[in-house]
Amino acid sequence: MATLVTRCPTGSSSLRQRSEYIAAILELSTLVVRRQQRLLHYTSWLYRLSADGRHFARACATVHGFTANVVQRRRQELNHVGHQEWLKGRQGRSMDFIDLLLLTKDENGNTLSDEDISAEADTFMFEGHDTTASGLAWLLYNLAHHPHYQEQCRQEVRELLKGKDVEEIEWEDLSLLPFTTMCIKESLRLHPPVTAVSRRCTEDIAMHDGRIIPKGVICMMSIYGTHHNPEIWPEPQVYNPMRFSPENSQGRSPLAFIPFSAGPR
Ligand code: HEM
Repeated sequence: MATLVTRCPTGSSSLRQRSEYIAAILELSTLVVRRQQRLLHYTSWLYRLSADGRHFARACATVHGFTANVVQRRRQELNHVGHQEWLKGRQGRSMDFIDLLLLTKDENGNTLSDEDISAEADTFMFEGHDTTASGLAWLLYNLAHHPHYQEQCRQEVRELLKGKDVEEIEWEDLSLLPFTTMCIKESLRLHPPVTAVSRRCTEDIAMHDGRIIPKGVICMMSIYGTHHNPEIWPEPQVYNPMRFSPENSQGRSPLAFIPFSAGPR
């Protein structure tokens, strides 16, 4: 969320827009869950007529308007300064996702439209903020409950930063934080931010007991259940980062740990 927020126009109107955007995201999250719990709201035209449906439409318009505005401004800036200057201006700092999409071309030189980019931005903003916030919050919670692991992580980070001018961790540094990585993975196992995903079977699926899930059926797969299966994870409720040490990970199916899900969709 930070990227879009910091790049929006400065001044009080942008601050107001920003908090409207955040309020709308929160409202949409509540409304989506509430709709699932109300049978009558399953039918789209009935939902549209309901108070919740009207609030939903308004909040969607706020979110879409905000993103469209950011993309349009960025496009104008790009057109104004030209590709070369634009890239030069971004040297020394990484481009964000909107920059990448603006510059993307297919093999025939076609670029993405503003609508395409807005739709992608809306998706990753929505998918990205709550999962990350919840993953981080649970990690901090688990480390707070296990100060000895917390101390090991701290030592690892101190060791990494020793002798560095800037206290920043780069992408390449992550491989130098093996224990911290194990702690993060164990937290994502114990408290996966996304608890289930759905898939439509593209063929008949035979289960161990001989029953068949027919092609075309949509199944819910429990990430939480997989991560707490005692046959794969003994004492599943215990926070134990050592489960992810190289020795203990050997022979375990990659599908035993699926916080980001797996397979085609
Ligand atoms: C701890 C952090 C995160 C977790 C645990 C997580 C987990 C997931 C899961 C389980 C799915 C569903 C995939 C499926 O149906 O198989 C998903 C989808 C997605 N996530 Fe994340 N995610 C995280 C962070 C992010 C971030 C930071 C972004 C982008 C900024 C992001 C963007 C997306 C998008 C765009 C999809 C939809 C992909 C599709 O079209 O199917 N996620 N994520």
